[in-house]
Amino acid sequence: MAIIEGINLTKRFGGLVAVNELSFELNDREILSIIGPNGAGKTTLLNLISGVYYPDSGKLMYKGRDITKLGPDARCKMGIGRTFQILSPLPDLSVLENVMVGCLFGRGGKISISEARKEATKVLEFVELSEKADYGIESLTTLELKKLELARALATEPEILLLDEIMTGLAAHELDEFLPLVGRIREEGISIILIEHVMKVVKKVSDRVIVMDQGRKIAEGVYEDVAKNPEVVKAYLGEAYESLA
Ligand SMILES: Nc1ncnc2c1ncn2[C@@H]1O[C@H](COP(=O)(O)OP(=O)(O)OP(=O)(O)O)[C@@H](O)[C@H]1O
Ligand SMILES: [Mg+2]
Repeated sequence: MAIIEGINLTKRFGGLVAVNELSFELNDREILSIIGPNGAGKTTLLNLISGVYYPDSGKLMYKGRDITKLGPDARCKMGIGRTFQILSPLPDLSVLENVMVGCLFGRGGKISISEARKEATKVLEFVELSEKADYGIESLTTLELKKLELARALATEPEILLLDEIMTGLAAHELDEFLPLVGRIREEGISIILIEHVMKVVKKVSDRVIVMDQGRKIAEGVYEDVAKNPEVVKAYLGEAYESLA
């Protein structure tokens, strides 16, 4: 059964239709990747799911409930967690404190500061960043910043996690370290929507892939099939064409 479902979602920015009549389903414990060329509407779709934007038309159902009109805070507290394409750690807080913010915010203020500290410590262990717990943000490498972004999202205790290009910009050896985390998150029972430009990653971790181009869904299926789809190949011409194969 779908844990979250979008039905005919449309989002316009002035005359531009960033997401156009798009429907999708995410099943329990599934890793669904959204791919497509720059400007295809991937981040906008994620923003519709997390409540940053409301659709101009269409509907979002989460665990059987219509959440189309709920704000981002309410959605986060219901279990929809996300990372941001532009990383946004709080610069004056330590690594641990940044994760504590996720714990306190995501659970609606229902836990104490000391409980949040304990929980945040566990999350940092999970993403293998414990040794940097008391460091400032400025001392982190790109890989560590990405792990922190992931930890902040995990700290909100999501049931579904939306990852926006969390692995883009990582070197090959860093990807090898980061990628297993995605699988371990799913093993925790969390369903994942992944936006990613790194096709090697998409191929490796996705159960299913949706391809977007100019706001529309142009293909859907297992990676091997969508990568061969002529419309997909055409959409990628001049971009990541070779990396699709
Ligand atoms: N807040 C906004 N105001 C106006 N236009 C926007 C806004 N956000 C996105 N757009 C436009 O909507 C389209 C889709 O953008 P979006 O960021 O969703 O694409 P994307 O698939 O995530 O691209 P990328 O791979 O570059 O991250 C683009 O043409 C973009 O310029
Ligand atoms: Mg984007």
